[in-house]
This record gives sequence, C-alpha cells and structure tokens, in this order.
Amino acid sequence: MTDTTSTPQARVDLPDADAARALGAALAAVLRAGDLVILTGDLGAGKTTLTQGLGAALGVRGHVASPTFIVAREHPPLPRADGTVGPGLVHVDAYRLGGLDELDALDLDTSLDESVTVVEWGRGLAEALTEDRLELDLERPRGGVDDPDADPEAGTRHATLRGVGPRWADVDLAALVAR
Ligand SMILES: Nc1ncnc2c1ncn2[C@@H]1O[C@H](COP(=O)(O)OP(=O)(O)OP(=O)(O)O)[C@@H](O)[C@H]1O
Ligand SMILES: [Mg+2]
Repeated sequence: MTDTTSTPQARVDLPDADAARALGAALAAVLRAGDLVILTGDLGAGKTTLTQGLGAALGVRGHVASPTFIVAREHPPLPRADGTVGPGLVHVDAYRLGGLDELDALDLDTSLDESVTVVEWGRGLAEALTEDRLELDLERPRGGVDDPDADPEAGTRHATLRGVGPRWADVDLAALVAR
C-alpha cells in the first residue's frame, strides 16, 4: 500500500510553453534509467511540450512530438561530450494502450530499464497503477465555455508533481520546481 499522506508533492505555475519546457528540462536532472513519468492533463494542456524540454535536456535523438497514432516513440540517447551515455526516452500515448502492462508487449527496440518512460495519460487512470512513478498533473483553468475569445492554446497551466513509491521518497520535488 502506498502511503499518500507522506507522498512528496510540489506545485508550480507554467505561464507559457517555455515554462513547460523548462520544467521538463529540470526533471532531466533527477530522472534516471528505469523511471516512469505519468503526465496527466486535458487535450492541449502541455504534456508534449513539457516532454520536448525533457528530451532536449536528456540529449536524446529525434524530435519529440505527439506520439498519437504510433503508441510509443523511441528516442535513443546521444553520446555525451564526456563519452558517457545517459538514458533514452520512450514517449507513450496511453490513449492507445489498454494498460501499462501492454507496454511490455509492444516489443520496443529500447529497453524500458535503460530509458526514462513518459506516458501521456488521460485523467483519472493513473490511480490504478502501483509501481514507483512520478505523477505530473497539468491543469489549465479556462474561461466560460461560451467565451468566443478564449484561445485554446493560451493561458497559465498549473503543474502538480507527486512522487509515488520508494524511488521518490527522498527526492525534493519542491526544490526541483523552484529551479
Ligand atoms: N503554459 C503552457 N504550457 C504548455 N503549453 C502551452 C502553454 N501555454 C501555451 N501552450 C501551447 O499549448 C499547446 C499545448 O500542446 P501540447 O501538444 O503540448 O499539449 P498535450 O497536453 O500534449 O495535448 P494532447 O492531449 O493533444 O496530447 C502548444 O501549442 C503550446 O505551445
Ligand atoms: Mg500530446
């Protein structure tokens, strides 16, 4: 059983897409091979935008784009200047998956143990998962649904980060988002 009362949690405002990419880049500093990140948020909340910042900071190959229609996109690590190789990125669209257990069945070229796995997830499904994971919730407050001037792309998003499981017990998420 996960003790959610002691789960490390942090909140940060993301005024624009660059702020979302910067949060993704900050996450690269703590994420390591084998980690799972669950991105939850409505359509256009900024899940892919944040993942672009993560992928750039990890230094992985290829352009991070929406994984829609391909289920999972694999970004192998590029060798670093010092010759070491970091984790790759596996970017998954969970709308196309019945469950996380189906990830194993995808027969990816990249081992999940050697990658950071980011799953773009619909609202309310992540609670069913049990393993170590970083949950990142993106919320976009909207004006009235009848507001004809509302730009679907604009607006500050609120990010909530929650580390679940022993992997995240000692990670200071508040310090991470303050960077
Ligand atoms: N604060 C913000 N955070 C993230 N994206 C923002 C922000 N403000 C504006 N944007 C814009 O909103 C759009 C977000 O799209 P993105 O594809 O990242 O969302 P998504 O959550 O992945 O959507 P989908 O559910 O379709 O996969 C982009 O065009 C981005 O530039
Ligand atoms: Mg997306």
